[in-house]
Amino acid sequence: MKSQSIIAFILALALPMTVVGENSTVKNWSKDNVLDVDSDEYCEYRHSLGIPCCRDVEIVYIDGFTKYALLEDGSYYACGFAFPDEEVKEDEMFGDYPYCNGCETNYTDKDGSWNFIDETWCKVSEKKCFKICEPIKGYQCCKDSSTEVISKDNDGSWGIENKKWCLIQTIPEFNDFEINASCTMDGSGINKLLKYVQFIFSYEENVNFEEKYEIVSILLNDNPVNLDNITYFSKYFRFYTSNYLETNEIKMILRDKTTKQKYYKTFITGVYRMFF
Ligand SMILES: *[C@@H]1O[C@H](CO)[C@@H](O)[C@H](O)[C@H]1NC(C)=O
Ligand SMILES: *[C@@H]1O[C@H](CO)[C@@H](O)[C@H](O)[C@H]1NC(C)=O
Ligand SMILES: *[C@@H]1O[C@H](CO)[C@@H](O)[C@H](O)[C@H]1NC(C)=O
Ligand SMILES: *[C@@H]1O[C@H](CO)[C@@H](O)[C@H](O)[C@H]1NC(C)=O
Ligand SMILES: *[C@@H]1O[C@H](CO)[C@@H](O)[C@H](O)[C@H]1NC(C)=O
Repeated sequence: MKSQSIIAFILALALPMTVVGENSTVKNWSKDNVLDVDSDEYCEYRHSLGIPCCRDVEIVYIDGFTKYALLEDGSYYACGFAFPDEEVKEDEMFGDYPYCNGCETNYTDKDGSWNFIDETWCKVSEKKCFKICEPIKGYQCCKDSSTEVISKDNDGSWGIENKKWCLIQTIPEFNDFEINASCTMDGSGINKLLKYVQFIFSYEENVNFEEKYEIVSILLNDNPVNLDNITYFSKYFRFYTSNYLETNEIKMILRDKTTKQKYYKTFITGVYRMFF
């Protein structure tokens, strides 16, 4: 086994509260030399310590970096680290239709938004596109979202482009309750070494968020976030990423699972660093 990996791994495991300085043993920490928790090497290593590796147990959940197994006595057991896959895999087709490259749309139905380009319809990707306007009743969205609002009704805000009425906003801002976003880098071992931060979205205690809402897309500084890697808790949900900036703009589209109504919400947050 690569000694560098072991050292790095033991450091991260044994000294979770230690900030590893630039002159520490781990000079070049990259995902390539972090142990793969499912590898033979890692299992051998755990076995040599008399403890199971992830492969020996059934994983019940993965949160950020940690894979957990449920033991017979009902307790959770951390069998190793897992690294979030940040890639958002692009679905290639929606049924018989390809996904569009852009976010423009001519038409909306129960499946979402569509665009007619090159003689064929393509499906607008909800994961990639943040839209606060979808065409309704045959009216198109204004090409320029800064078009002057001339009138407002239940369908949204209306403007005029090319002498035709167009919609400016049809998706309302989410205000069922308050959601606060924050971004934290804790100085403990692995998060700092791997330069991961966690984005936390906190809300009221008495909301079963996951049951009531579905997150349609999150764009972090215009990059889609892998929604599979969101973990829900009773007061907040969160995801880990290393793709952050000092000031982050988050755009979110969510849907009420019961009414199917879509909402948008935007957040700006800096990075809060906690060092131990
Ligand atoms: C790292 O080592 C260099 C050269 O030995 C030294 O100048 C520097 O102060 C050290 N940095 C830390 C954080 O210890
Ligand atoms: C760091 O590790 C990567 C992959 O293991 C390697 O390609 C790269 O050259 C290394 N960089 C340094 C400065 O050692
Ligand atoms: C992140 O999502 C991908 C699937 O898109 C999954 O394979 C991976 O295990 C997830 N990572 C974590 C840490 O949950
Ligand atoms: C849809 O929009 C594209 C440009 O985005 C345009 O070329 C096409 O003619 C439009 N189709 C309809 C049916 O409006
Ligand atoms: C959101 O932030 C505001 C201002 O900091 C605070 O007063 C409020 O309690 C927070 N709400 C939640 C649900 O965290």
